[in-house]
Amino acid sequence: MRLTVWNRLDACKLPKQFGYCLCFRYFCTAMNNPKRYLITAALPYANGPVHIGHLAGCYLPADIYVRYLRAQKRDVKFIGGSDEHGVPITIRAMKEGITPQQVVDRYHAIIKESMEQMGISFDIYSRTSNAIHHKTASDFFSKLYQDGLFEEKESEQYYDEKANTFLADRYITGTCPVCANPNAYGDQCEKCGSSLSPEQLINPRSTLSDAVPVKKKTTHWYFPLQQYENWLKEWILEDHKEWKNNVYGQCKSWLDSGLQSRAMTRDSNWGIKVPTPPAPEGGGGKVLYVWFDAPIGYISATKELTDQWADYWCKEDTKLVHFIGKDNIVFHCIIFPAMLKAHGGFVLPDNVPANEFLNIEGEKVSTSRNWAVWVHEYIKDFAGSEDVLRYVLCANAPETKDNDFTWKDFQDRNNSELVSIFGNFVNRSWVLMHKLCGGKVPPLHEDAFDDNDKQIISEIQSSKVKVENLIEEFKFRDALFEVIDLSRKGNQYMQKKEPWIVAKQLGEVDSPAQKSIDNCLHLCLQLTANLAILINPFLPTTAKKMLGMMKVVDKILDWENAGKIKLLSVGYSLREPQLLFRKIEDEEIKAQVEKLKAGLVKPTENKSDKETAAAPISVKPEIVFDDFAKIDLKVGTIVAAEKVEKADKLLKLQVDVGFETRTIVSGIAMHFAPEEIVGKQVTVVVNLAPRKMRGIESNGMILMAEDNNGKLHFIKPETVINPGAGVS
Ligand code: 2FM
Ligand code: ZN
Repeated sequence: MRLTVWNRLDACKLPKQFGYCLCFRYFCTAMNNPKRYLITAALPYANGPVHIGHLAGCYLPADIYVRYLRAQKRDVKFIGGSDEHGVPITIRAMKEGITPQQVVDRYHAIIKESMEQMGISFDIYSRTSNAIHHKTASDFFSKLYQDGLFEEKESEQYYDEKANTFLADRYITGTCPVCANPNAYGDQCEKCGSSLSPEQLINPRSTLSDAVPVKKKTTHWYFPLQQYENWLKEWILEDHKEWKNNVYGQCKSWLDSGLQSRAMTRDSNWGIKVPTPPAPEGGGGKVLYVWFDAPIGYISATKELTDQWADYWCKEDTKLVHFIGKDNIVFHCIIFPAMLKAHGGFVLPDNVPANEFLNIEGEKVSTSRNWAVWVHEYIKDFAGSEDVLRYVLCANAPETKDNDFTWKDFQDRNNSELVSIFGNFVNRSWVLMHKLCGGKVPPLHEDAFDDNDKQIISEIQSSKVKVENLIEEFKFRDALFEVIDLSRKGNQYMQKKEPWIVAKQLGEVDSPAQKSIDNCLHLCLQLTANLAILINPFLPTTAKKMLGMMKVVDKILDWENAGKIKLLSVGYSLREPQLLFRKIEDEEIKAQVEKLKAGLVKPTENKSDKETAAAPISVKPEIVFDDFAKIDLKVGTIVAAEKVEKADKLLKLQVDVGFETRTIVSGIAMHFAPEEIVGKQVTVVVNLAPRKMRGIESNGMILMAEDNNGKLHFIKPETVINPGAGVS
């Protein structure tokens, strides 16, 4: 395969032109000149609105790339849509007391509108609840099944006997074995960040009914990823060395640690029913795993968009690029390609330029804590400034590492880059052209060129190639910097030429002063036209405004026009200047920071939300005295305490419980320093089966109470009494 040959020999970083790599070592027309582009952006879960982290992660970079390709007149389709299956949707439905269908209907509409308003120019924004998607995903599964590619396996999974349903990991809560958070989930503890499996939870409970889940046998169909491991190693680690370091590195680490079979079906009533065979008619309560169906959503949406969908998905000269956030890397680089390979007949991604995460004001985005800047709210608060957000998110994009969004930086970038550099240059050019050239494009006098004129012409010409190469390499923030830098050079040029001073020396029409002014403003206007072309993929609304001022049609934005200095004809009359960006005031920023902080849901407030609140405030099912009597509680005295190495949350305690001194590992290190608790009395469950934590055997559990501020308190006698005293 031509693409493979090119990539494997060596990923040449030289600019690619004329369909050849300039190093001329390899013939690589297929790589450089794909016939068509298929660009996808991760399908967001329709379980909530999108926040700016989503935009910065994949939608904005994908849109910039697509707008650039369209300006290049390439054949491109930009595919998006909502991911409407899976546990996140059902959790949200449960929280809000509505059906999953109501959830996806509501959020699909909100997300779609946010995308449109932010100028994310999908050719289609579809949804995975569409019939065409159900059929496409179901047929895909059937083909793999008919080809004998799945393993059928029986395993034991948690089941809620009250609610009569198997429980996804997220539906199980219990006490985190690492930090003792009583509301950890079966897949993760949100308090200490540990990844968990439901089996690790202490006192697991179903979030549906609060019942204690039981293990029950269930059958699922597994995709044997390990069978594709060698092929994946060659395809990614050898053939795609040019992928971004963060993507390549994550793939390498997955591949190095060995792949395993993954269940491609789940026990649930929400999703795409497993086809018959293998499932009985109606799916038998089994659905496709959401990560099986979601990426197939790219194919279904393309089918929905065009009858020519197979050209995009099946012809070798298509360049398929998936834009995603880093949490989706394994699914797009390993699992989905292996599925496509197993199915056969589909192109594979040529690149997967995943971004890292965008934090907000120094903290990780948390939708459950409402620590996020929601796109639909930004649009309401900063109507007409959508391009400013696009600018800031691109200029500060988490392309190589996690980055931080702060409102102060948002203000600074707007005021001192967009307003003071880019906007200022365009505005000055227009004002002076109206003042000194009668509102018309002045002539260019080559015989009067000075070094500054020559310099700015060469800057205009070279910036096109610079921006182009950076975009092709997915380095959008550097590309945007080049565009702003060109406007900065425009300001410097004007400053050196000082047409407003030269104007004082004006005499005859052909005087050197007149020629200098003409040249300066002619070139500033041509530079503005160039800026419109270059900024268009990044800030499309701004580019449109600039077209209005220039009184020209969209056609001028074709990429082939960049680098030219004859875009506006001499004598052509131009409109009055229009303000491209407004200054953002301190009060607006202050209000946003306050809004962010005020909206923060503290862990205790979270308890009003059904899902997380259920455990601490609900009363557990009734027990008889004999159940209670099984628990042996004794007063203990902490005699020694030390931190557990490499575990921020844990303390290793020696507790005198009267008849012996016990080692107890407790997740209280964030609340108490070891030295401050030695000598304190506590209540200990002394007959709890021993558990190993970080390799240390813990013999017992200390009882704690959590106050409204999340602070922990020991449960202890009012005055010091003898250790070993019984508590009942
Ligand atoms: O992480 C997410 O939000 C997923 N819904 C992304 C799915 S991308 C693709 F596979 F559809
Ligand atoms: Zn924890």
